[in-house]
Amino acid sequence: MILVTGGAGFIGANFVLDWLRSCDEPVVNLDALTYAGNLENLASLQGDARHIFVHGDICDRELIDRLLAEHQPRAIVHFAAESHVDRSIHGPGDFIRTNVNGTFTLLEAARGHWMGLDAAARAAFRFHHVSTDEVYGSLGPNDPAFSETKTYEPNSPYSASKAASDHLVRAWHHTYGLPVTTSNCSNNYGPYHFPEKLIPLMIANALAGKPLPVYGDGQQIRDWLYVTDHCSAIRAILQKGTPGEVYNVGGWNEKPNIEIVHTLCALLDELKPDAAGSYSRLITYVTDRPGHDRRYAIDARKIERELGWRPAETFETGIRKTVEWYLAHQDWVAHVQSGAYREWLDKNYAGRS
Ligand code: NAD
Ligand code: TYD
Repeated sequence: MILVTGGAGFIGANFVLDWLRSCDEPVVNLDALTYAGNLENLASLQGDARHIFVHGDICDRELIDRLLAEHQPRAIVHFAAESHVDRSIHGPGDFIRTNVNGTFTLLEAARGHWMGLDAAARAAFRFHHVSTDEVYGSLGPNDPAFSETKTYEPNSPYSASKAASDHLVRAWHHTYGLPVTTSNCSNNYGPYHFPEKLIPLMIANALAGKPLPVYGDGQQIRDWLYVTDHCSAIRAILQKGTPGEVYNVGGWNEKPNIEIVHTLCALLDELKPDAAGSYSRLITYVTDRPGHDRRYAIDARKIERELGWRPAETFETGIRKTVEWYLAHQDWVAHVQSGAYREWLDKNYAGRS
């Protein structure tokens, strides 16, 4: 079996659902159920003995030791993190605790477990760390896309905490020989994406007739990947990746934010027309994010060359599936828009002119 951390969040839940769709190997899913964790994402696994959910914190060493001893996983896939740049600007402490201390705790527990295995199990064991392209910093318009050898230049508390965790993972391989792999992926989108991030926020606001808040000039570029393609990349790395290696994962889909918002408005105009006119009437430019990175782009040639991985979705197919999913799952959106979510909207958007 495998141990997944953060498997009730956006990417983790998609990974667990995909994993159990494609094989019968059981998953122990450790998640603290922060505001971003949601058991509704895993509702289709209710009663499925292959999924063992554990409500707990990756900073809890005793709990992790117990889970490793009890379940003897052959691999750990580490998604758990605080993941939202804007939240990291308002409150960086949780990011240091979970992303840095939590990853450290998990590495130490994994190392203890791994050292107690026999030679064959030690060789087969993997610790896969899920990271982000944001650790590489911001690109100029003509810079080459991020390769695995790009220097780390994190600019936000979020990306700095992820960079720190990447360095710990690297060091646990070089110093202790722990068989780790790391993936640095570009922006994901798709089902179960919490509506504080650009794409689900714009869909939710448009359907509610609320302003679509575009930070700054809207010309910041992100490189978008459909979430199930990220999941298939992680499966490929677990299966064929080399310990100690880093793999950049991306969809070759660089788009300025304003283009994404226009695409979403056009899809909603087609799939759920509004009598008041095109949803694009709601686009509102607001004060920029402090320290806002201008451009991210991933060079995904290494994972293609070495592991044969390529994304299955184009941006056009993926974004249409995403809008259709949100239209079909308005209950899910309504449930996550709790009191705490509304407080976040007040905190993040009230001060922006
Ligand atoms: P998310 O915020 O949707 O989910 C994070 C999950 O981790 C939640 O279920 C939460 O409850 C859990 N969690 C948080 N703190 C925890 C703790 N202390 N102990 C146990 N569980 C805890 O995030 P996501 O978008 O699914 O991202 C997952 C991973 O992928 C993160 O490591 C993130 O840095 C990375 N990543 C995300 C993107 C993206 O576009 N979303 C892109 C590249 C990499
Ligand atoms: P986000 O989804 O928060 O991801 P990240 O900051 O990790 O890339 O934001 C994606 C882009 O969209 C980023 O450039 C910030 C921008 N953005 C807006 O313009 N308006 C918004 O309300 C949000 C949440 C993001």
